Amino acid sequence: MNRIEELRQRHKAAEMGGGDERRARQHQEGKLSARERMELLLDEGSFEELDKLVAHRCHDFGMDEQMVPGDGFVTGYGRIHGRLVYVFAQDFTVLGGSLSETNAKKICKLMDLALKTGAPVIGLNDSGGARIQEGVLSLAGYAEIFLRNTLASGVIPQISAIMGPCAGGAVYSPAITDLIFMVDRTSYMFITGPDVIRTVTHEEVTKEQLGGSMTHNAVSGVGHFIAADDGECLRMIRELLTYLPQNNREDPPRRTSSDDAQRMDPALDSVVPPESNLPYDMKDVIRKVVDEGEFFEVQEHWARNIVIGLARLDGRPVGVVANQPAHLAGCLDINSSVKGGRFVRFCDAFNIPLVTFVDVPGFLPGTEQEFGGIIRHGAKLLYAYAEATVPKITVITRKAYGGAYCVMGSKHIRADINLAWPSAEIAVMGAEGAVNIVYRRELAAAGENGAVRRQKVQEFEERFANPFVAAEHGFIDDVIEPRETRPRLIRALEMLANKVDTMPRKKHGNIPL
Ligand code: HXC
Repeated sequence: MNRIEELRQRHKAAEMGGGDERRARQHQEGKLSARERMELLLDEGSFEELDKLVAHRCHDFGMDEQMVPGDGFVTGYGRIHGRLVYVFAQDFTVLGGSLSETNAKKICKLMDLALKTGAPVIGLNDSGGARIQEGVLSLAGYAEIFLRNTLASGVIPQISAIMGPCAGGAVYSPAITDLIFMVDRTSYMFITGPDVIRTVTHEEVTKEQLGGSMTHNAVSGVGHFIAADDGECLRMIRELLTYLPQNNREDPPRRTSSDDAQRMDPALDSVVPPESNLPYDMKDVIRKVVDEGEFFEVQEHWARNIVIGLARLDGRPVGVVANQPAHLAGCLDINSSVKGGRFVRFCDAFNIPLVTFVDVPGFLPGTEQEFGGIIRHGAKLLYAYAEATVPKITVITRKAYGGAYCVMGSKHIRADINLAWPSAEIAVMGAEGAVNIVYRRELAAAGENGAVRRQKVQEFEERFANPFVAAEHGFIDDVIEPRETRPRLIRALEMLANKVDTMPRKKHGNIPL
C-alpha cells in the first residue's frame, strides 16, 4: 500500500468512528454524530480538523484491539458567521466518548491555540467521562482541561453544549465555561448517577430527574439554555456568538440595525399598572425597547424573578438585567442574585454594556433565605455591579427599595446613566412597612383607629413613592417618559462608547462565593 492510500484509509477509519452500528444507535436515540454536529455548527466547508490521526497509548484491558484514529474526539477550528472558533466534539460511538490521556491532549492543544489567537472555544459534550481503562492518566487529562478552562475564563468566550451524558468530574469543565446549552431528553449532567445515589442515600431518582435538561435549566441553575434537539442547540450557539466579541480585548460586533434609533413606543407609557402592587411582564418592556424586539434570554427557566439576556440597541450588543415583577414580585433572593451576578461579570469580562431595568421591592425575607445565606449570595450581585467597568445604564420603572435599590445598578456603585420613569418609587422600604416601624408607638396608642395609619402611609407615599427626591440629589440623571426609553438608552450608549474605567491594582478581588 502506498503512503497516499494509507493516509486515505486512516482518514476513513477516523471518520467511521465507532462504526455504522453504533452510529445508528446514536441516531435512534435522537442524537447526531460528532461530525454531523460539527457540520451544522460551522459555516459550510470551514472545518479544519486537527489531530485526526492521534491514537491512544493504552494496552491494558484489550485496548490494543480498540484503536480508532482520532481516539473518539473530533477537534479543530472553523468559522461561524465568518469568525474563527475552535471546536471539539466527543464521539460517543468510540468508547462512549470517554476521555483518554491522548484526547485530553487534543483539547488542551486546541485551548492553547484559542488563547494565543483570541477566539472562542465550543465544546460539544457527549461522553461517559474518564476512560476507565486508563485510570489516573484520564483524570490527569481532565485536570489539565480544568486548568485551561480557568486560565481562559474571562479571556475568550467558552461555550459548552451537553448533547448526551456528562458524568462524574467531567461536569466541571462545562461548569467553568461561560454558558451551558442542554438538549431536551438526550442530555444529562451529574457528579454521580442514580445507582450510586441509591447506594449512598437510598434515594430513588431517574437520570432525567437527577440531571436532565429541565432539572439544570429550572432547578439547579447549572444550565443556561435548553434546545429541543441537536439542530436547534447548534443554531442557538451560532446565534449567541453574534453578540460576543472574539476575546476580552475586543468590543462585541456591532450590526447595522433596521430598527429606528429614534423609535418611541407609546405603549410603554401604560405598561406599569396604576396599582403599585400589580404585576406586569418586564420582558414586554425589554422587547419594546431593544432592536427588532429580539431578546436572547439566558436562564429563562431558573430564578425567574430576575431576567437576563442579550439584545441590541442600534446594533450594539448589550447585556440586559431586569427584575421581573410577574414572578415573586421581582424580589431578589439567593438564586436571582447568583444568576444576575454571574451574568453581570460575564458581560463585564467581554466588554458588553449593561442595561438594567429595575422594579424590585427588596430582598425576599424569611428564614429559608437567611439560613441559605442570602447575605452572602446577595452580596455577589452587589459586588458584580460595583466591580463592572463596562458602560452601565439603569432605568427604574417602578420600585427601587432598600438594599435592592443600591444593588441594581445604582449611581452610587458606578452606574453611568440612571434614568427613572415617573412611576418610580425610590425609598428605604414600602410605605406600609416604614410606617409600622417609625410610628409603632403612635399606631399602638391609636388602637383600632385605622385613620392614623392611613394618614401616615399617605404621607410616606407622597414623600418617597416617586423619582423626584432621587432626581433632586442627582442620583437619577433624568426622569423620562417611558416611551422615550429606547432613544434615550441609545444616546447614552453612544455617549459611553469610549468609556474607560479601572479597578485598583490587585491580584484579584475576593467576591463572596
Ligand atoms: C470507557 C466507556 C465509558 C468509560 C462508556 N463506555 N463509558 N468506556 N470508559 N467511562 C463505553 C461502553 O463500554 C460501551 O462500549 C460504550 O461506551 C457505550 O456505553 P453504553 O454503556 O453501552 O451506553 P449507554 O447505555 O448509553 O450508557 C451511557 C453511560 C454509561 C450512562 C454513560 O456508559 C456509563 O455509566 N458509563 C460510565 C460513566 C462513568 O461512571 N464514568 C466515569 C465517571 S468518573 P461498547 O464497546 O459496548 O460500545 C469521571 C471522573 C472525571 O469521569 C474526573 C474529573 C475530575
